[in-house]
Amino acid sequence: MTKQMPDVQLVNIHKRYGEVAAVRGIDLEVRRGEMVSFLGPSGCGKTTTLRMIAGLEEPDVGEIMIRGQTMNQVPTHRRNLGMVFQNYALFPHMSVHENIAFGLLMRKEARVDIDKKVKDVMKLIRLEGMALRLPSQLSGGQRQRVALARAIVTKPNVLLLDEPLGALDKKLREQMQIEIRMLQREVGITSIFVTHDQEEALTLSDRIVVMDGGRIIQLGTPAEIYKNPATPFVSEFIGVSNSVEATVEKTESQLITVVAKKSGLSLRAPASEFARTGDPVELSVRPENITFFQETREGYNTLAGVISHVVYTGPLTYFHLEAGEGAKFIALQPNADTASTTEQPKAGDRIMFGWPHEVTRVLPAR
Ligand SMILES: Nc1ncnc2c1ncn2[C@@H]1O[C@H](COP(=O)(O)OP(=O)(O)OP(=O)(O)O)[C@@H](O)[C@H]1O
Ligand SMILES: [Mg+2]
Repeated sequence: MTKQMPDVQLVNIHKRYGEVAAVRGIDLEVRRGEMVSFLGPSGCGKTTTLRMIAGLEEPDVGEIMIRGQTMNQVPTHRRNLGMVFQNYALFPHMSVHENIAFGLLMRKEARVDIDKKVKDVMKLIRLEGMALRLPSQLSGGQRQRVALARAIVTKPNVLLLDEPLGALDKKLREQMQIEIRMLQREVGITSIFVTHDQEEALTLSDRIVVMDGGRIIQLGTPAEIYKNPATPFVSEFIGVSNSVEATVEKTESQLITVVAKKSGLSLRAPASEFARTGDPVELSVRPENITFFQETREGYNTLAGVISHVVYTGPLTYFHLEAGEGAKFIALQPNADTASTTEQPKAGDRIMFGWPHEVTRVLPAR
């Protein structure tokens, strides 16, 4: 089988703005039909990278290819892209139909073809009956749908989205994330989605590119990134995570034993190639892996502590736990309705808690 050529290929991309090194050596391949998101904190270079793919910025170093062709010298309008940006406003004086038709008109397509394409895309994106409205007569979510329709109606090779849902409230945002994902699958369009919101990236993506300081820190599926964060930064950036700085005390074939730096707690974790006796490491445990129990459990790290704080959020309750100097943890429990009469633990309770040795992530110390 021949490997299909990636739709978007970035080779060693660098970009500086004066003193600021915005992008520092990005290599990436986005496959045909894939939805990839750029995720990272503010200023990590997401928008800059996207703008270079779009041709709105020029890389200082590196090559940008779309469907195997070098794009470095190709102007934006010749790259066959669809773009949706948070501030990429609709034309206010044009109707929904005219806004969506704009790109097709520029290409001098025949009137009948344009009408058919606009009608089809409006159906796809649930804007039927709104053709004659002006943008000011639409809700925020509807406006972003028009922007999306306008971006995909020309059948671009690649769709670029930069925080397109940033201006919407949480509920609408979550609804639109699922809609965009379904639409993207249905149309099969190769897409790159920029966000600083980890839940959004997890919801939308086939693969997530986690960025920091102008570099890619980790690239993987949402589950890979969540379950196997490569560094403490990724572990903390994606979801809630408990971390313990420690030193490796003993290594065996399956397990290592570490001593926590501040609390002196002895904990066990799976063996890992970079965790040799004496090495500094950082352990990471997800809150959903921590459970409460009555007595020490075989195969578990077991800690004794006190509940310092309880946060009820409806479907979940978060328990803030303290088990000594610098040994603070967050545990999470689902709140399914049960017939159980056992009382929920509350702040001030002394409890035993822990997690299985094998779900403890061992990360290199930062
Ligand atoms: N036109 C510019 N001139 C000077 N510096 C810039 C310019 N554009 C971006 N930068 C700087 O480059 C770095 C990366 O910016 P970029 O916009 O790519 O970040 P981002 O990851 O998109 O962040 P955000 O989540 O806040 O949108 C930042 O330090 C930013 O201040
Ligand atoms: Mg940005």
